[in-house]
Amino acid sequence: MGSSEWSHRSDSFWSNDNVAETGCLSIIVLGASGDLAKKKTFPALFHLYCQGFLPPNEVHIFGYARTKISDDELRNRIRGYLLGERSSSPSEDVSEFLKLVKYVSGSYDSAEGFQLLDKEIAMHEISKSSQEVSCRRLFYLALPPSVYPSVCRMIRKYCMNKSDLGGWTRVVVEKPFGKDLDSAELLSSQIGELFDEPQIYRIDHYLGKELVQNLLVLRFANRFFLPLWNRDNIDNVQIVFREDFGTEGRGGYFDEYGIIRDIIQNHLLQVFCLVAMEKPVSLKPEHIRDEKVKVLQSVLPIKDEEVVLGQYEGYRDDPTVPDQSNTPTFATVILRIHNERWEGVPFILKAGKALNSRKAEIRVQFKDVPGDIFKCEKQGRNEFVIRLQPSEAMYMKLTVKQPGLEMSTVQSELDLSYKQRYQGVMIPEAYERLILDTYGPCPS
Ligand code: NDP
Ligand code: BG6
Repeated sequence: MGSSEWSHRSDSFWSNDNVAETGCLSIIVLGASGDLAKKKTFPALFHLYCQGFLPPNEVHIFGYARTKISDDELRNRIRGYLLGERSSSPSEDVSEFLKLVKYVSGSYDSAEGFQLLDKEIAMHEISKSSQEVSCRRLFYLALPPSVYPSVCRMIRKYCMNKSDLGGWTRVVVEKPFGKDLDSAELLSSQIGELFDEPQIYRIDHYLGKELVQNLLVLRFANRFFLPLWNRDNIDNVQIVFREDFGTEGRGGYFDEYGIIRDIIQNHLLQVFCLVAMEKPVSLKPEHIRDEKVKVLQSVLPIKDEEVVLGQYEGYRDDPTVPDQSNTPTFATVILRIHNERWEGVPFILKAGKALNSRKAEIRVQFKDVPGDIFKCEKQGRNEFVIRLQPSEAMYMKLTVKQPGLEMSTVQSELDLSYKQRYQGVMIPEAYERLILDTYGPCPS
């Protein structure tokens, strides 16, 4: 499978020759008025459309949310983002794509809205089914987890695929999956009562990032790393996420969860698992999952003195954030793994919003060379850095001889910057890869 353990596929979905099903496909983005939908989901759908993965004769896209806006208002929001500062796309393609988009307004717990949604989807299915074909319905929950149970109940009751000719209904749910163990287990059982496991896709989009996908290859396909990746050689590992913007109107969601549940418990912990776990038996999702579980089970309880929390100045000025909020927007947490490979090596996880730059990276810092003969005043440490974003790269910091007549040392890098090394290769956005995995052909 292309991307992994973050989701799984229905056994019946793929034929042996790895050809995707055809037929009518309805993609329903619930929470279409929100930040995720605007910044990630619709742009990913647009890029899939441009690459031919969403054939217009088969596909329709529905936005659903409580906000009362028209089809055109939703389209204008999407257009604004796609043509705006953060992305630049050919405007004719955007216009063609937007013809596939429709908006339905309704609440997340009332029959009325979901009956209307079902009616709209059914009309689209009838209009696209000039020949007899199966119908596929993909519900993408771009919503706070607190509404997943009611939304799933509504989908189950009113919006399932009803075609006699086959097809499916699937739901995609976002992180954070609950707020703590109890709520995650409750959520799991609530959704599990409504859908079979192969119908449920739990997304952590960090697993779709190119360099996160590369971690298994790097670690287990390179002889270099095999003998070094342990407590004998590694001093510490830092996994860092920083963003140069704050909540930007998302306070309603963010304030209830905070930076640990928003970023560390899911995105950084997934990266942590891939860095620290043992080699899986194979690349099968369940084998990778098993190794992740083992390493997580070896993490010692976190000590209070190894946690730092903070909140950026101005956070409470966001009108969607309560005036007295003490929700953290910054956190550093040290994880310690009690096993043979990692005993004594701190894994430092850091995440913060509204900082001075946007970056996500893994820094593996090696121990000093024992018995230094170069008498460097400050011996440069070997460091292996994997930059997930922006500008994907990995580089190794080495100590080398300073070029020239003298025998002195200097720090330098072996640098693999993707833009330079893979010129002309388009690196897909995480969400393109993951959404495609929920319905499309598996990359060979
Ligand atoms: P938003 O705060 O933008 O919420 C999305 C939509 O949900 C809103 O437009 C609103 O729609 C509705 N909504 C918001 N709060 C509530 C509430 N308390 N009860 C019911 N409905 C509500 O959040 P995001 O879009 O940023 O995030 C949604 C999910 O996606 C979260 O689980 C988040 O972790 C995840 N995510 C977000 C990313 C991002 O970059 N934003 C990236 C990766 C994951 P309306 O009022 O119109 O119904
Ligand atoms: C989401 C968080 O999961 O990830 C957001 O909810 C955050 O708060 C986003 O902004 C960051 O994603 P990326 O891919 O832009 O690093």
